[in-house]
Amino acid sequence: MDQRNPSQDKKSRPKFSLFFYNPVTYAGVCLTLLIFFAECFLFGVDFINPYSNVYLGLFTYTVLPPFLILGIALIFTGALRKRDRVRKGLAEARPKPVLFDPLNPQHRNAILVFVVGGTVLVAMTAIGSYKAFHYTESVQFCGVTCHKVMSPEYTRYQQSPHARVKCVECHIGPGVDWYVRSKLSGVRQVFKTVQNTFPRPILSPVHNLRPAKETCEHCHWPQKFYSSVEMRRHYFLSEGDNPAWFIRMLMQVGSEDKRNTGIHAHMYMDNDIYYVADDEKRQKISWVKTVDAQGKETVYTTPDSPYLEKNPPEELVRKMDCIDCHNRPTHRFPAPYGLINEAMFSERIDPGLPSIKEKGLELLSAKYSSREEALEAIRQKLTAFYQEQFGDQYPANQARVEQAVGEIGRLYKDYFFPEMRARWDAYPDNIGHLISPGCFRCHGGQHTASDGKTISRDCTVCHTIIEQGPPGALEKSTDGLPFQHPVDIGDMWQEMNCYECHTGGSY
Ligand code: HEC
Ligand code: HEC
Ligand code: HEC
Ligand code: HEC
Ligand code: HEC
Ligand code: HEC
Repeated sequence: MDQRNPSQDKKSRPKFSLFFYNPVTYAGVCLTLLIFFAECFLFGVDFINPYSNVYLGLFTYTVLPPFLILGIALIFTGALRKRDRVRKGLAEARPKPVLFDPLNPQHRNAILVFVVGGTVLVAMTAIGSYKAFHYTESVQFCGVTCHKVMSPEYTRYQQSPHARVKCVECHIGPGVDWYVRSKLSGVRQVFKTVQNTFPRPILSPVHNLRPAKETCEHCHWPQKFYSSVEMRRHYFLSEGDNPAWFIRMLMQVGSEDKRNTGIHAHMYMDNDIYYVADDEKRQKISWVKTVDAQGKETVYTTPDSPYLEKNPPEELVRKMDCIDCHNRPTHRFPAPYGLINEAMFSERIDPGLPSIKEKGLELLSAKYSSREEALEAIRQKLTAFYQEQFGDQYPANQARVEQAVGEIGRLYKDYFFPEMRARWDAYPDNIGHLISPGCFRCHGGQHTASDGKTISRDCTVCHTIIEQGPPGALEKSTDGLPFQHPVDIGDMWQEMNCYECHTGGSY
């Protein structure tokens, strides 16, 4: 058979369809290569040291890729355009031009210039983009660039015990798979921010948060836990002259060597706790399972649980960890009652101003559409109230009233974020049980096992009250005191859950 030598045939044929040999395609190739090298460099840096800068990733994964796509698009656009032109007879499908003839000195020079120039350009692009984004160390970046979106979390974080812990140390942490997951969700968030479709307030709980054992225990190693932590709480009631009340108690936190006792025993009792939440915010829990060291399982359910007859689906079951109690270790949005009590106790608000507790609660709890509106309302309403209250005596009291206006305004600015609808009731704190279910999500006395055992609601298992009462007439005992409710409500505090009356805001 008469066949031509295939290898010879290949050699004389250009490597690509002739349509690809046109200026637009060449530009596309250059752009693609440039971005490709910059990407390789940035990805390398980002990959080797994810702690160095979280949002370098933003640049690497969201800003540059569109240019890569543009480059590739140019390559094909050029080819298609050329094909059209050839078909219409406007251009010739010329054979491949000789790009490089090593014997031609002009070509050698051109190549030299191209190689040196190209290398410098690539290096500058890579280093330049790296530098530009390196200075935005994660924390500032979040506060400045995503200012409006992250402002509540950032502001609260800056005043928290973790103000020197970088966002990444809790939110990402080392390790390839968490790294990739967080990058993917980061990309989604950037698009939502750009399109202005992010939810207000930002949704919580965070589903792709790295497991607490890998983040929190990095710094809070288990052996370090305290046997007990002292709590001192100063309260003022909403009656006319704001009567004061004080509670001092020891939180039985417990430690690893004090196994089986204390709050942290949850984690270290050779006992694993699993639960299913019935709502998005994990505020209603109707199914709890413990597994002890021997593997014995106990299931506790509430009478209204959907899982009385059947086990819940596997994917809904969550293993309890630090975040299930400490869900606000750093982004704390305290409730008005606590903020006002503290300001009154430290006399930043004069506790002698009649009804100031009640008024303060009312003004901080109201919903405003902007910070300016809130500050204006606080000033007007408080001034008007005391002008009426004091009548002729107002000028003598004006300074106290103005101080209160200033302080309540400051509290609003620091702890309330109307643009993002972020405030205490949008982000319930799971430590405690006074204003949101918290511990009582499981310890409310409703969760019973088939053998009749109930998860304890006994007031003494978690804390011991050692002082309580109005200042000046305190009851004291190091053995622990039975709780006395600051205002007389009979047995109601035993029969109902505290958070059914207490909201943290206005009564
Ligand atoms: C000490 C650890 C820690 C640090 C540091 C930290 N966070 Fe968080 N962050 C958390 C926890 C815990 C949650 C809530 C998780 C949950 O409830 O599922 C959270 C939640 C969030 C949320 C969701 C909204 C919310 O309030 O629940 C955003 C947004 C957020 N963090 C941003 C940031 C930013 C920005 C920084 C740095 C300025 C930062 N975080 C630093 C632990 C941390
Ligand atoms: C990089 C280290 C680091 C990481 C990670 C970290 N913390 Fe902390 N945490 C600290 C330091 C330091 C303090 C003490 C601050 C102080 O004494 O004012 C602290 C304080 C605390 C406190 C006491 C707060 C208070 O009111 O005094 C709690 C509770 C806490 N951390 C919980 C957590 C939880 C939960 C996580 C995981 C989401 C976590 N921490 C992650 C370093 C860290
Ligand atoms: C069952 C709920 C619960 C779990 C789970 C839990 N804690 Fe705590 N933790 C508490 C309570 C309650 C306190 C007492 C202080 C308070 O009430 O704020 C406390 C105290 C602390 C303190 C000392 C705070 C201080 O004020 O000095 C640190 C640090 C801490 N926890 C870290 C952790 C870490 C890390 C984990 C996960 C390994 C964890 N906790 C798991 C409920 C819990
Ligand atoms: C998801 C459900 C759940 C939540 C939320 C929860 N606990 Fe528990 N807790 C349990 C279970 C279940 C037990 C019983 C463990 C056992 O007996 O094996 C328990 C036991 C305890 C014990 C030991 C009680 C005893 O009788 O010795 C303490 C202390 C405790 N919890 C404190 C807390 C505190 C404080 C909080 C809130 C910050 C909290 N728990 C929130 C499920 C929960
Ligand atoms: C499962 C554990 C647990 C049980 C049971 C429990 N508490 Fe508490 N209690 C806590 C925790 C945790 C806090 C919050 C400490 C903090 O604010 O950090 C708290 C806070 C309080 C406070 C201060 C509230 C505030 O925010 O100022 C009072 C008062 C109180 N408890 C009374 C009681 C009474 C009364 C009972 C019995 C009906 C009870 N507790 C049962 C865990 C428990
Ligand atoms: C039937 C409703 C009701 C229940 C249930 C209830 N309280 Fe109260 N509580 C009140 C009222 C009313 C006040 C007075 C508020 C005021 O004067 O500002 C109050 C005041 C308080 C204060 C002072 C609050 C402040 O704003 O400074 C504390 C602390 C308190 N209660 C603790 C508890 C605890 C802990 C429980 C659950 C064990 C509980 N209460 C259950 C109605 C209730």
